[in-house]
Amino acid sequence: MSAQATVAPWLVDYDATVAAFDWDRAWDDLGGRPDAEHGVNIADLALDRHVRAGRGDHVAIRWIGRDPADVEAPVDLTYSMLASRTHRFACALRNNGFGPGTGVATLTGRIPDLYVTALGTLKGQGTFTPLFSAFGPDPIAQRLQLGHIKVLVTTPTLYRRKVAGIVDRLPDLELVLVCGATEDQTAGSTNGRRGGPRVLSFGAFLCDGTKTFEIGYTDPETPALLHFTSGTTGTPKGAIHVHGAVVTHHLTGRLVLDLHPDDVFWCTADPGWVTGTSYGIIAPLTNGVTSIVDEADFDAERWYRILERDAVDVFYTAPTAIRMLQRLGPELAAAHDFGALRLLASVGEPLDAEAVRWCERVFQVPVLDTWWQTETGGIMIANYRSEPVRAGSMGRPLPGIEVGLLARTPDGDLVTDDRGAPIEITDPDISGELALRAGWPSMFRGYLDQQDRYDAAFVDGWYRSGDLARRDADGYFWFVGRGDDVIKTAGHLIGPFEVESALDEHPAVAETGVIGKPDETAGTIVKAFVVLGHDQVPSDDLRRELLGHARSRLGAAVAPREIEFVDSLPHTRSGKIMRRLLKARELGEDEGDTSALETPAWAT
Ligand code: WT7
Repeated sequence: MSAQATVAPWLVDYDATVAAFDWDRAWDDLGGRPDAEHGVNIADLALDRHVRAGRGDHVAIRWIGRDPADVEAPVDLTYSMLASRTHRFACALRNNGFGPGTGVATLTGRIPDLYVTALGTLKGQGTFTPLFSAFGPDPIAQRLQLGHIKVLVTTPTLYRRKVAGIVDRLPDLELVLVCGATEDQTAGSTNGRRGGPRVLSFGAFLCDGTKTFEIGYTDPETPALLHFTSGTTGTPKGAIHVHGAVVTHHLTGRLVLDLHPDDVFWCTADPGWVTGTSYGIIAPLTNGVTSIVDEADFDAERWYRILERDAVDVFYTAPTAIRMLQRLGPELAAAHDFGALRLLASVGEPLDAEAVRWCERVFQVPVLDTWWQTETGGIMIANYRSEPVRAGSMGRPLPGIEVGLLARTPDGDLVTDDRGAPIEITDPDISGELALRAGWPSMFRGYLDQQDRYDAAFVDGWYRSGDLARRDADGYFWFVGRGDDVIKTAGHLIGPFEVESALDEHPAVAETGVIGKPDETAGTIVKAFVVLGHDQVPSDDLRRELLGHARSRLGAAVAPREIEFVDSLPHTRSGKIMRRLLKARELGEDEGDTSALETPAWAT
């Protein structure tokens, strides 16, 4: 064990911390609670504050390029370098008329310009939206439209493959910045629409270092991040997070991830999903650590090499990745020395007790599951380094967070009392809908332009998570399942409706129902049941064509992995597809009460 492994945890006694907790005091570590005189800007706390404190030369991001050879040649970006580059980006936004409130999105892999864009946008009080680079043109266009995005940062390849063809659908888009392109490459770019977005090289756009830029007073309620997430129906929802959320990012970075300023931290999530922003950008930087950013996708050998070579202290990853490591066996890991590592944490899907024990054996550290959502902005339930880990459990509420379980009927409605108020389950080991007492700092402040969906997420002062869970007699929470039809595949949230809509657009398709099918590695995979038009004949060729169609529209991250042709789908009387029955059928379970069905027959 190296010296780092003995660093004392920030959270020493869970019960005492909960009892003494106060959100006002949580700001102390960030220079005090913001008020009318002192605002709060995430980027200032993440970067410039460390420079002012004399830590400008500390490495903020250790970036590792995609190629195998890049592993041996990481690029170190210090807090000063990032402070200056984000400053130049914010300055350029302002000088080009993109003031506070401007929607800026990225569609790139994990490259340094993404981080500069995110934090530079926040400096200028724009709203940052990261898009996952494995999305196809349809999900990209939809999110850019819904977010009223004016500035898009992307790469030459992604621009050509996914953006050039959709700019006609994006009336709000004014500027596309292409990373790694020279001015010559972008100078003559036409985009098919007169008056369409200007296309510039990212590097040429930045102000030079001589221009001044001051971060203006930033009210804690100023929108900072717009993260899209999927529901069961309708379009993706744009969850709005504000600058004041940073106190939760910072605090959870300390209390749960146990970040100390000299740590090397690695969050493997892509910023296209909320984990990669809250814990891949904000929490590590406000806590002043060195954060590893690997551009490449999962590769066990490579990951072990990085964990060892960079002496990673704290590792935050997803159960899917852990299962992939597990499947490759402990021998691969045994060739490496993880002496610096003192904590492994996971999020996004259930982390079963067996995976916890496997990691404990291989890495010789506590393995902590954590629970949260796009809407919660940061970790809400967790195991803690100072407490015994309850393997298989998500842990206990973050100090300052009240978690409740609301009773539900089998149909998914809340049980209410005569006042119409929900009923809280207090007995142990009874499952209900996981709910959080509204009002924590990183709580989303709205779904952009969808007030009704936002209102529907709250009842009687509780935020309804849509997850089912139970609490044991000691107050530890256990994940039971999703209370709705959204799909978690490899840790990513997919809305079935988005997938169904893309398939339904194919001329051969009459109707589609999409579910998550259990999968050993990815947890679940996206599976589509397709009813063909009456003149169509099911065949492997047609299946391949539909899979290809879905992939080209939706991208590999969202498209179904499996298609099954069926003669009909089960519907409720009001015409909704009953995905619950599709799922039960897939699992070979009793389909239960089918009285609501109009077409109960499975004539396959
Ligand atoms: C959904 C939220 C992962 C945070 C950012 C992604 C599922 C999350 C756990 C866990 C079982 C989990 C839930 C939740 N989830 N953490 N520890 N055990 N399931 O946020 O994409 O909004 O997904 O991820 O179903 O509602 P997201």
